[in-house]
Amino acid sequence: MTVEFEAIGVVGGGQMGSGIAQLGLVHGLRVYLLDSDAQALARASKSISMSIQRLVSKGNISEADASAALQRLHCTSKLEEMKDCDLIVEAIVESEEIKKKLFIELDRISKASAILASNTSSISITRLASATNRPAQVVIGMHFMNPPPIMKLVEIIQGAQTSDETFLATKALAQRFGKTVICSQDYSGFIVNRILMPMINEAFYALYTGVATKEDIDTGMKLGTNHPMGPLELADFIGLDVCVSIMRVLQAGLGDAKYIPCPLLVQYVDAGRLGRKQGLGVYSYHKLPELAKS
Ligand code: NAI
Repeated sequence: MTVEFEAIGVVGGGQMGSGIAQLGLVHGLRVYLLDSDAQALARASKSISMSIQRLVSKGNISEADASAALQRLHCTSKLEEMKDCDLIVEAIVESEEIKKKLFIELDRISKASAILASNTSSISITRLASATNRPAQVVIGMHFMNPPPIMKLVEIIQGAQTSDETFLATKALAQRFGKTVICSQDYSGFIVNRILMPMINEAFYALYTGVATKEDIDTGMKLGTNHPMGPLELADFIGLDVCVSIMRVLQAGLGDAKYIPCPLLVQYVDAGRLGRKQGLGVYSYHKLPELAKS
């Protein structure tokens, strides 16, 4: 199957979906972006536009290309508008049940040759694919890293029935976006989160059991192991809710108690501390009120 990609659909306009949409736009595709929350969709459109403007100020693309890219963006509230898309990738909440419901809808509205992809961090592609009636080979994991326009990697996951043709077409699209592709078998957490999340969880245990302060845990891992961000800082960046969801998928899928999310991590999420996207996580991102000028 050789796919000439012209239009893609992105469902979910949060941190990941808006970044994936931006990649499609700057690489010449028409992009249909949908979010069930109208405000989130408006935020996504604004952040894409600002980000593309930044590319212009840095001299990475011309004004004319930026304006053409933004004209190719169609924000919509109707899935049906994605009916001609060559690939539809979902980046909605990390819940198997909700993603399955979406795949049933995507299966219904998309053209038969469309590739249906999931940006899931950890959920079984085989089970997501099984929610659809179309030939199972059209569902694949296309896992971008955060933030998608910057990070160089895309992890591609073939479900039990995903064909090699679908894999090759998806890989070609990721490469068109300038990404390096790695390929994972369909086991919980795939490659990156299978290794990353237990480390983040352990950092929460270190904080929970009073081994050190959050700053020292992060500095230890940054300077001691040459990571660009400490694990707690990274958890805030990913979203603490997303981290808990991934740990639960690892726990359920791999059946080992070592994947139980740390009680402190769970408590932060229960308290609504979701990380950077919401202003408070392990760290606070609220701007301090400016002192009144005298
Ligand atoms: P987010 O919370 O920033 O965005 C999710 C968006 O999906 C929200 O705007 C929400 O309104 C929308 N949404 C939820 N249910 C929907 C539905 N049924 N239909 C349409 N829109 C819906 O989440 P984020 O961080 O962008 O994550 C999205 C997906 O990407 C998850 O599966 C996550 O595991 C995965 N992912 C996240 C990474 C991260 O660092 N945050 C990295 C790689 C993958």
